[in-house]
Amino acid sequence: MKNDPLTPYGNKPMVTPIVSAVNYQYTSFEVLRQITDGEIDGYTYHRDDNPTVRTVERKIAALEEAEDCVICTTGMAAATMAFLTFLKQGDHLITFHDIYGGNYKVSLILEKFGVEITWLDALDYEKVEDNIKENTRMIFCESPSNPLVKTIDIEYLSKLAKRNKIMLVVDNTFATPYHQNPFKLGADLVIHSATKALGGHNDLMAGAIACSTKEYYDKLWFTRQAIGTTLDAFSASLLERGLKTFDIRARKMSENALKIADFLDGHPKITKVYYPGLKTDPGYKIAVKQMRNGFGGMLAFDVGDTQEHAKKFVENLKKIIHAVSLGCTETLVCLPVLTTMLYMPLERRTTFGVKLNTVRMSAGIENIEILLDDLKQSLDKL
Ligand SMILES: Cc1ncc(COP(=O)(O)O)c(C=O)c1O
Repeated sequence: MKNDPLTPYGNKPMVTPIVSAVNYQYTSFEVLRQITDGEIDGYTYHRDDNPTVRTVERKIAALEEAEDCVICTTGMAAATMAFLTFLKQGDHLITFHDIYGGNYKVSLILEKFGVEITWLDALDYEKVEDNIKENTRMIFCESPSNPLVKTIDIEYLSKLAKRNKIMLVVDNTFATPYHQNPFKLGADLVIHSATKALGGHNDLMAGAIACSTKEYYDKLWFTRQAIGTTLDAFSASLLERGLKTFDIRARKMSENALKIADFLDGHPKITKVYYPGLKTDPGYKIAVKQMRNGFGGMLAFDVGDTQEHAKKFVENLKKIIHAVSLGCTETLVCLPVLTTMLYMPLERRTTFGVKLNTVRMSAGIENIEILLDDLKQSLDKL
């Protein structure tokens, strides 16, 4: 590699270079053939593949113990690519009300193309079996779910899916691979909004689809190449940097979330706390079985009795930030009915447990005393 300016002595840069090139010069027709036949890992055009992106794909595949991984522009692009790739007209998808609200919009598009969809409450995941039909091709779930952190027994679902030759797709954004590896529990695909804890700093958007087989990877790669949801190299580089601290951030977020859940649980101004790490939570036993190193950085709680109470609580916070998104260094709160679920009909937003005064919190990595003091002073004012 003597002539390569990046590695003049064969030594590698500590950071993967950001390759912003759209296209690549072919050194010969033979090289072109080898690339297009897949014999060598070469590059031709950014929409196909990019070395910075590819490096990060391998790192996320390793985190999820996957065969390979396809990275794309956003978490919603990742979910949509999975639907487009593995569902067709006349197929049936089983999913849960308790998934990120953006999927509801995608479901309207899928229905337009003739995909039939059944929505269940995540707490009723054992009813999936009764809803399987001849044409059921995919089960899509989150555990813990957004926003009420409901826990689904992934192993139970994967066994059911395998018996019925159905694909199981798990969005692992809330749990993160620090706490849970759905492939070990039998999932076929694992989706991430890498915008969240994998990136971790509110400065990039990306999606990832970790694949249990090369066949899945190839099919998803084809979709990405066709529709053009390839991530840019700069975002991939930011994502690579986020991954370097992912473990310690995930640990701290989870420690903080548990302490906050304990503090809020039983507080006179808090009506209900949702966190799988609380022994009283309906998902606790399953969470203990399928998660490790704690229960993640996401929790939710109902403040007082009305939305006004919840709004006042948020407005009174001094350190904790009122913003959407999650999994980042700062602690964030939002009211799901006014934000992440806004575009659903109101009855759909609230029939499966979310209330007008439910607050979702993403614990950050701040000193826990700062967070508890902030919560206390805000609640004292109610
Ligand atoms: C669990 C989950 N999956 C997917 C997404 C979508 O991710 P993105 O905003 O990167 O498209 C979100 C966004 O909040 C999410 O919470």
